[in-house]
Amino acid sequence: MSRRRRCFEEGQGAALHPPGPEAPDPHHLGADKMTPLRIGIAGLGTVGAGVVKLLRDNADIIAARAGRPITITAVSARNKAADRGVPLHDYAWETDATALATRDDVDVVVELIGGSEGPAKILAEKALGHGKHLVTANKALLAVHGAALAQAAEERNLTIAYEAAVAGGIPVIKTLREGLAANRIARLAGILNGTCNYILTTMREEKRDFADVLADAQKLGYAEADPAFDIDGVDAAHKLAVLATLAFGQQIAFDSLHIEGIRAISALDIHFAEELGYRIKLLGIAREHFGRIELRVHPAMVPQSSLLAAVDGVFNAVLIEGDFAGSIFLQGRGAGAGPTASAVVADIIDLARGTQIPVWGTAAKNLTPAATIPMAEHTGLYFIRLMVVDQPGVLADVTAILRDHGISLETMLQHGRKPGEAVPIVLVTHDTNEASVAAAIKFITALPAVLEPPALIRIES
Ligand SMILES: NC(=O)c1ccc[n+]([C@@H]2O[C@H](COP(=O)([O-])OP(=O)(O)OC[C@H]3O[C@@H](n4cnc5c(N)ncnc54)[C@H](OP(=O)(O)O)[C@@H]3O)[C@@H](O)[C@H]2O)c1
Repeated sequence: MSRRRRCFEEGQGAALHPPGPEAPDPHHLGADKMTPLRIGIAGLGTVGAGVVKLLRDNADIIAARAGRPITITAVSARNKAADRGVPLHDYAWETDATALATRDDVDVVVELIGGSEGPAKILAEKALGHGKHLVTANKALLAVHGAALAQAAEERNLTIAYEAAVAGGIPVIKTLREGLAANRIARLAGILNGTCNYILTTMREEKRDFADVLADAQKLGYAEADPAFDIDGVDAAHKLAVLATLAFGQQIAFDSLHIEGIRAISALDIHFAEELGYRIKLLGIAREHFGRIELRVHPAMVPQSSLLAAVDGVFNAVLIEGDFAGSIFLQGRGAGAGPTASAVVADIIDLARGTQIPVWGTAAKNLTPAATIPMAEHTGLYFIRLMVVDQPGVLADVTAILRDHGISLETMLQHGRKPGEAVPIVLVTHDTNEASVAAAIKFITALPAVLEPPALIRIES
């Protein structure tokens, strides 16, 4: 059983309307308000089963708000025999998910399999190729193939809806694409991975180290058996790429993102961050700067008084700065059956209402490749923590290297003396450049008194 499946509450709701008669023109959204919108769902895991449950439990209000019933006609997953906590006998079963794309009684294909390649991609392409609208929660697919899929959709006057792909139940896609449609977006920053936020929060609250908390998170079902995608920042980067494409109306090459995860964060650094008035969060940051875009995912120190610092546990949050709207801050559950299904079904309701908005907020053919800012050009404050042998001259050597690289210090912390033993020294720089810091760190690491590679954490104002 997957971790998120455990959050899923068992229960039966009001039965969905049975599959209705064939719509005269299934692609003409909202054409006939009495004609059910017919969906085929591929993937019945945490999200897929959650969508079935939500469509059943809230069928009445969903139909009222959509202006017409929404019916599931067919479903697909790998294992037909699996108990998914929801009754599936009303729906046709497709062993091959791509068959949903060719069924005459499916208007909208809902892809909830996951992965940027393989069955999800084949299904998405086939659905669009056969004139079906696509609803997906798949950020990996969108981050890597979003521009091409949008082009394929728009050539056929079809929609791809993906509210669930970023920050689960938080309506951040709608906020960017609709609510802030008139704004130039200067910057967005988000806590986009609940697993990382849970680990960092627990490390801080319980003063425990990363490996220990990760092991517990896996036992509790908050982290996958293979946690790499989450803790190495890839999942957050997929979401950032989606948000940045929407925010800046440009095509983002996924490999142009700077991505670092949280494996190297220690309890000691969290302790020093607290002492300096910061919290450590895994942030995804996108910023437009003179026509180029900075795109980075990495652990960052944020002031304890900031909104992002207060987002703890599995919660996600996104801060967006529009030139006319000012700052918008959204917070909520970024994963789990309920919140994610809520976002998927909101997309389906939009389709039933006949709402059609360009996939990326602007015509896909207008998405030009983004010019991105290399990480070496990043400028900001840096937290550097060294482990050194406490002996005369070490600090002088370190500060000389920093001076030679044009780096000045705002703060230095060293608690007590332990002559001849290992002690931590913390340095906080003034505004400086990433390339200079990286070069200085190489020299500092080579000093005989420096016992391990320094910890380096960027500070966000
Ligand atoms: N879980 C969340 O909280 C969450 C939040 C936001 C977005 N998402 C996204 O939602 C998508 C689904 O995530 P999930 O957590 O629901 O995943 P999951 O629990 O692993 O479920 C995946 C489902 O896909 C089915 N599947 C796998 N290969 C298939 C194939 N070739 N043909 C048909 N079905 C296939 C699986 O079938 P079996 O069950 O038979 O193995 C399973 O039902 C992903 O893109 C994920 O990134 C998830």
